[in-house]
Amino acid sequence: MTIEKEFFRQVMGQFATGVTVVATATGARLSGLTVNSFTSVSLNPPLVLVCIDLTSQTLPFLRASGHFAVSFLTNEQESLSRCFATTSAEHYDRFCHAPYHIAATGSPILDGALAFVDARIVAEYPGGDHAIFMGQVEAMGSNGKVQFLNPVAKERSTLTEWSEEDQGSSQEPQPDKWPLAYYLGQYRHLARDYKRPSLAAYYDEDFD
Ligand SMILES: Cc1cc2nc3c(=O)[nH]c(=O)nc-3n(C[C@H](O)[C@H](O)[C@H](O)COP(=O)(O)O)c2cc1C
Repeated sequence: MTIEKEFFRQVMGQFATGVTVVATATGARLSGLTVNSFTSVSLNPPLVLVCIDLTSQTLPFLRASGHFAVSFLTNEQESLSRCFATTSAEHYDRFCHAPYHIAATGSPILDGALAFVDARIVAEYPGGDHAIFMGQVEAMGSNGKVQFLNPVAKERSTLTEWSEEDQGSSQEPQPDKWPLAYYLGQYRHLARDYKRPSLAAYYDEDFD
């Protein structure tokens, strides 16, 4: 009896996710990779986690810097996602030509992203062939709104520009920005004409 790798992938592929780029900076060097194993962990304190393959070239840079930023990609950033998932010079030497701003920790967040989370690594756990990084959120933003854990964090970042570029202060989703989704090993775009179904329709019954 065993769990086959391919079957593991097949089953996990049924779980639809968003797509992010997890990136860090060590000195002048920027590194990042496409990640969908990103999870919100705790509200108080604010914690998130990402799982990084032990063979990842970004892994040593994450360990060295002690921080990372997670950019949630929009459906217009699929090509960036593809680039950050390749072993190319574009990826390793030119940060996929992605425009970015520096977040509170010093990590880069991608311009045009749907939202970002900027975190300081507070723990690393073994996760089989992956390393699990727990990050405490120092800054996060979406929809033109940015919040910082403390004033020092705010001083260090260039996020003001990021928020000015991504105008709009309402709590409503940005109509021109939609998440990039990943499902069954393929990129997907969400349907914009979602209508909430009734329970009656689900059971094909009349509930009155
Ligand atoms: C949609 C998608 C999600 C991915 N999620 C992860 C992930 O959660 N963790 C990971 O280590 N690699 C993940 N990868 C694979 C890496 O992005 C890919 O192996 C990349 O080339 C690693 O770059 P690096 O070696 O420079 O770190 C994902 C790839 C794709 C396309």
